Formats: sequence, structure tokens, C-alpha cells
Amino acid sequence: MAAALKIGFSPLQTAPKGTVVAFCGEGLRFGPATQKTLAPVADTIARAAATARFKGASGSAIELLAPAGLAAERLVVIGTGKGEERTEMDALKLGGVALGKIGKAAEATILAETAEGIFTAAEAADLALGAQLRAYEFDRYKTKKKDGEDARPDVKLTIAAADVAAVRRAWARRDAVAGGVRLARDLVNEPPNVLFPMEFARRCMELKKLGVTVEVLDVKAMQKLGMNALLGVGQGSAHDSRLVVMRWNGGRKGEAPVSFIGKGVCFDTGGISIKPAGGMEDMKGDMAGAAAVTGLMHALAARKAKVNVVGAIGVVENMPDGRAQRPGDIVTAMSGQTIEIINTDAEGRLVLADVLWYVAKRFKPKFMVDLATLTGAIIISLGSEHAGLFSNDDTLSERLTAAGLATGEKLWRMPLSKGYDKLIDSKFADVKNTGGRPAGSITAAQFLQRFVADNTPWAHLDIAGTGMGSPQTDINKSWGSGFGVRLLDRLVADHYEA
Ligand code: BES
Ligand code: MN
Ligand code: ZN
Repeated sequence: MAAALKIGFSPLQTAPKGTVVAFCGEGLRFGPATQKTLAPVADTIARAAATARFKGASGSAIELLAPAGLAAERLVVIGTGKGEERTEMDALKLGGVALGKIGKAAEATILAETAEGIFTAAEAADLALGAQLRAYEFDRYKTKKKDGEDARPDVKLTIAAADVAAVRRAWARRDAVAGGVRLARDLVNEPPNVLFPMEFARRCMELKKLGVTVEVLDVKAMQKLGMNALLGVGQGSAHDSRLVVMRWNGGRKGEAPVSFIGKGVCFDTGGISIKPAGGMEDMKGDMAGAAAVTGLMHALAARKAKVNVVGAIGVVENMPDGRAQRPGDIVTAMSGQTIEIINTDAEGRLVLADVLWYVAKRFKPKFMVDLATLTGAIIISLGSEHAGLFSNDDTLSERLTAAGLATGEKLWRMPLSKGYDKLIDSKFADVKNTGGRPAGSITAAQFLQRFVADNTPWAHLDIAGTGMGSPQTDINKSWGSGFGVRLLDRLVADHYEA
């Protein structure tokens, strides 16, 4: 197991123990409470700073061991730069940076204050969240690390804040969200021999403990519904496909739910249109959309969100085989539309086509947001800075974009139009599953839009560049990032809770 981080809170006035982390603005400026706590070592800090040429620039830090005059074993001073106003993201990031500096210390305290002033309760809780997200490590399969001398101790982290009771309340929600992010990251990081469709469904069942209703539809049930687009993708695999429907009813009885749909391709070889060998191992993360939906359901249930939510994920494995789907095959989706398979590697949209149709028809949701590692092309367009956003609804789009800015899980809206839609008209069927290389992410989204029933407000998030293998940040050192959980929790909290 990765070292656990146990988070607690104490008043800023208490003398801190263990490793103490303090923030310092450019020009060696401290906040008033920090200044008071560090008064006995003010001189030592000034001399150490001069020696290290540390001025408090953002990204810089100095460290004092066993500073005489403090109960602390170690003092870490982290620079926060010029005195501009703190933004919401700052506290979260600083929590991550601080945890990075704490390293292997068993006990640590972070003073929740910068030169710009004492953290609000929300900021102090964000600081804790940033630290918690940074501490995540997926080392389940590192047998040596577990027992060897390298084993990391559990860390007892105290956030020293102004109003402890208020911070505890603010933390409770974030603790739930952190649990959801951890779950999503675990699912993405798990190897594909462990996390195949049935095992994914089993892990979803564990959400029942939180009060989530979980239904698992097997191949027979999906055949009955006519989900041949989804089933075609999984037919070459030794592992049967599943559709998992998770529901959390924290809102008013009978009120239409919001809904989230995830692509859960547990491994994407490309199928008969097989992918090249180099980097194919990354395709274990082709279920990051489904993982985000599952993590989100965990977060919403754990914090007892006052909203009705449906989370639906199509879980399949895309394999080449004697029984696998071929290029040239024509399948009839649940919607009744026929699809010509041009490339079996464009499988995610086939899975989503049936799940989107099913959710709109069965639940008549307020909106549908799907998340999918859908196209390599979105990585070419946006890298890992933004996920691609495609939508038929401006209000939903704007709300998603704002939630992205607030959480740092940023989105960039891309176009949809008749002209792009034409590119997926098929010679032999109603639609084909690829439109060629130009505008690859957009034609994929156009394909999905053809399976959005009844003009339901809908948004598609292409997270191929952000859900996995993305560059590591202050709050994420994991290959699977859990992208989408904090974003969508925020969307729900800001607009859809009673
Ligand atoms: N899962 C891939 C997309 C992907 C690529 C995700 C790289 C993460 C990293 C998807 O199923 C796929 O193979 N898409 C094809 C579509 C093409 C055949 C039209 C692609 O992007 O090349
Ligand atoms: Mn593919
Ligand atoms: Zn895929």
C-alpha cells in the first residue's frame, strides 16, 4: 500500500511539530500568524535565505534542520512569489507543493497562511485536498517497495488554520471528492489483465456501500436491447462486455437526473485494425472516461450531494480474434441507425452510441455529459492543457468551461456543424465510424451527436490527452490523473443541487 496521509486540523496558534511548512512572499514577507510562530528563528531564516539567495520567488524553497528555538524538527519555507491576489487554484497547488517538500517525514504541519493573509476555511481545506491528491501513489504491484527499507511511513499531516471547525466542515466535502479521484486513478492505473469488464463492474458494485444503486447488464440483456454497436466492439474478446448503470438519488423524488456517460474500453488493441506495438500498453487507460464517471459517483454519494444522478459506463475489451468485428461490417445500433465499420480502432464511439441512446431514452435526463479517451487527434490539437469540449448546448458548455477554470481541469470548446457531419455519411449504411484523418476529433463528436436522442442537452469531453499519461503536476504524480471527477463534482455543486 502507498503511504497513507492522515489529515487533521489545529489552530494556527499551536506550536507546530515535526516538519513545519510555511509560505513566504517575494521579499521574504510572511503573514502575521506565521511571523509570530517563526519569531524565535527569524534571524536564522534571514541568514539561511541570504546564503541560499532565497527571496521567496514562486517555486523556490529553503530548508532548516532542527532550528534552535522551535519545537519543529525541520522547517521548510516555500516561496509564493509577488503579492498578487490568491486565486482559488493557488491553495490547492500549494498543498501539493508543500506535500512534495514534506517527503518522508512522519509528522508535518502546514501553516495555512501566505504573506497575503490567513487562508479562508475553503482555502485551508483546498490546501489539504492538494496535499491529499499529491500524496497518491499507485504502488500495488511493487513488491519490493512494500517490505524493503524504502517503505514509506504513514504521514500525519496537520493543517494549522484560523477557524478549525469551519475548515473541518469544508474538508468533509473535499475528502469525499478526494476519494472519488483516488478511485478513478486506481481504475486507470490497474493493468488490463486485472481490470477487465467484469472486474470493472464488480468494483462499481462496491459503491453500493455508499448508497449508490448499481445495475449490471450482461451481453444477453444488451442483445435484448439491440445494443449491437457496443456488442460488436467486445465480440472478439474472451471477456464479455458489460453496461453498468449507477444511480444516486440525493435530490427531490421524481426530479429528472443529471447524467454522465463513460467510455470504458479496458484495453484497446485496435481490433482487426490493430495498433502498432510501440506504446500499446498505454491503452489500458482507454477506460479513463468510465473511471471518471465511477469516481464522480463515489464523490457525489460520499458527500451526499442533493441531486439525482445517473452514471452509465460501457465496459468492453477491443481485441483481434476469429470472431472479432471486421472493417466493412455493418451493425444496427440500439437507435435503429446502421453503422458501417471502416476502422475497428474507432471503437469508443460505437460503445458510446448505444449508451448515450439508452440513457436519454430511459432516464430523460436534464443533460448528458460523456467522457472518453476518444481520439489521438485531440492530443494533437490541445495537448494535455485542455480536454476537448463538444456540445449542442451553450449553457451547459459555459457551465462546464467555468467549472474547468475553477478546478484546473480545463476545457476548450471545439466546433460541431453540418459540414463536419457530412464527412461521416456512409456509402452503404446510415453512418460510418470514421471520417478520415482531417478533423478527427470533431467527426468523432459528430458521430456521437447522431446518437443523442430527443435533442437532449449534451456535451462530449475528449480526455485522451488529460486522463492518462499527462504530464505530472503539483497535485498529480500518477499516470492516471482522475481528470473529470473534480470538474464534474464542481459542475453539479454549482448548478444542480437543491
Ligand atoms: N483509444 C483511442 C484514442 C487514444 C489515442 C486515446 C491515444 C489515448 C491516447 C481510440 O480508440 C482510437 O484508437 N482512435 C483512433 C480513431 C481513428 C481510427 C479514426 C485514433 O485516434 O487514431
Ligand atoms: Mn481505438
Ligand atoms: Zn479507444
